[in-house]
Amino acid sequence: MQLPQRHDGETPARPLWLLAELTYACPLQCPYCSNPTEMSQIGREITTEDWFKVLRQAREMGAAQLGLSGGEPLVRQDLEQIVAEGRRLGFYSNLITSGIGMDEERVMRLREAGLDHIQISFQASNAEMNNFLGGTDSFEKKKDMARAIKAHGYPMVLNIVLHRKNIDDIEEIIAMAEALDADYVELANTQYYGWAFHNREMLLPTREQLAHAERVTHAYRERGGPMKLYFIVPDYYDDRPKACMSGWGDIFLTIAPDGIALPCHAARQLPGLDFPDVREHDIDWIWSESPAFNHFRGFDWMQEPCRSCSEKTKDFGGCRCQAYMLTGDMYAADPVCAKSPEHGLVTGAVERANATPADAPAAQPILFRNPKNSKRLHR
Ligand code: FES
Repeated sequence: MQLPQRHDGETPARPLWLLAELTYACPLQCPYCSNPTEMSQIGREITTEDWFKVLRQAREMGAAQLGLSGGEPLVRQDLEQIVAEGRRLGFYSNLITSGIGMDEERVMRLREAGLDHIQISFQASNAEMNNFLGGTDSFEKKKDMARAIKAHGYPMVLNIVLHRKNIDDIEEIIAMAEALDADYVELANTQYYGWAFHNREMLLPTREQLAHAERVTHAYRERGGPMKLYFIVPDYYDDRPKACMSGWGDIFLTIAPDGIALPCHAARQLPGLDFPDVREHDIDWIWSESPAFNHFRGFDWMQEPCRSCSEKTKDFGGCRCQAYMLTGDMYAADPVCAKSPEHGLVTGAVERANATPADAPAAQPILFRNPKNSKRLHR
C-alpha cells in the first residue's frame, strides 16, 4: 500500500509514534485529565491479542516509539505481556503512569519484560494538594514508587502538570524532584482538552503566576542544577498555534482503549469523522487509506485565514480539536492564533483568569474526572 505524504509533500508519512491508551480506568480523578469526558460511554477494552496485532502491524509500518498510557496503564494486568511483545518487536517503550498500581515487584517484572522508560506523575509537591487533586491518598506511595523506579536502573522522569492551583509552589516542586533524585522534570502547564477544558476557568493560571514559574525554572537552570527541566507553557498564552501532533496523520497514531484509531488523543469528539476500529481494519489501511486519517492531511481543507497564511506549512492551522472545542468548527483556524477572527475566545479566557486573584475562591466547583461525573455530564 502506498504511504501518504507528510506535510512537506516529499517524505512518506509513517506512524513513528504509537500511543497505546490501554484503558480509561484510573484510580485517580485529576480534574485536568485530557481523557474524553464521555469516557463512561466508551465501549469495552480490546484484548491482549488485539494489542499484539496493533503493535505488530504498526511496527511493520515503521513505528519505533511506543507510549503506554491511559487512564492508568497499570490497571491492565496484561501490561507486562504487552511490554514484552513491544520489546520482541523492537519498540522503544515508555510507560506513562501515576505510579498507583505499582509495587517493587511489578517494577522488576516490567524491567524483565523489557520496558525502556518510565515517566511518573505527581499532582503537587505536598500531600494535601496532591491528594486533593488526585482524589486519593497517593502522595507517599508515589514517592516510594519514584524511588523504586530509580533503584531499578531507570532514569527518573517526573511529570507535574501545572495550573492555577499548584503553579505557585514551583520552588517546592523543583525541591521535591531534587530530593527524589530526578533526572528529568516535565513542568507541563495544563492544555485545555477533555476534563481540563471543562475545568478551564478554575485551572488557567494568571500571567503573573506563569511569569513567576518561568523565572524560578530559569534560575534553577542558571544555577546549573543537576536535573534537566522542561517547562511547557499553556498555548492560551501564545499568539501562534502549535503544530499539533506535528500535523494530522503525519507521525502520530493513537489507539484508544476500545480499539478506535485516532490521529490524536482528542479527535474522537470531532463530528462526522468515522474513526476506524483496529478489530475491523489493519493499521496500514487505517493510516494510509481511511477517510478519517486523510481528512486533514495537506492544505486543501483549510479556510481563510489559514489557506493563504505564510505560516501554514509550519503550524498547519494549529489544533483541529481546539478549533472545534472553541468555535464549533473543526475547519476554523485554531483560535490561539492572533490571526484567527475568533482569537478573542482565547484572550477572553485569559483576561478572565487575570481578572480574579489566583487565591480567590473558584466561581464553580472543580469537576473531578471519574465515571460518575462522566455519566452525569453525558446524561
Ligand atoms: Fe486533536 Fe490537536 S489534539 S488535533
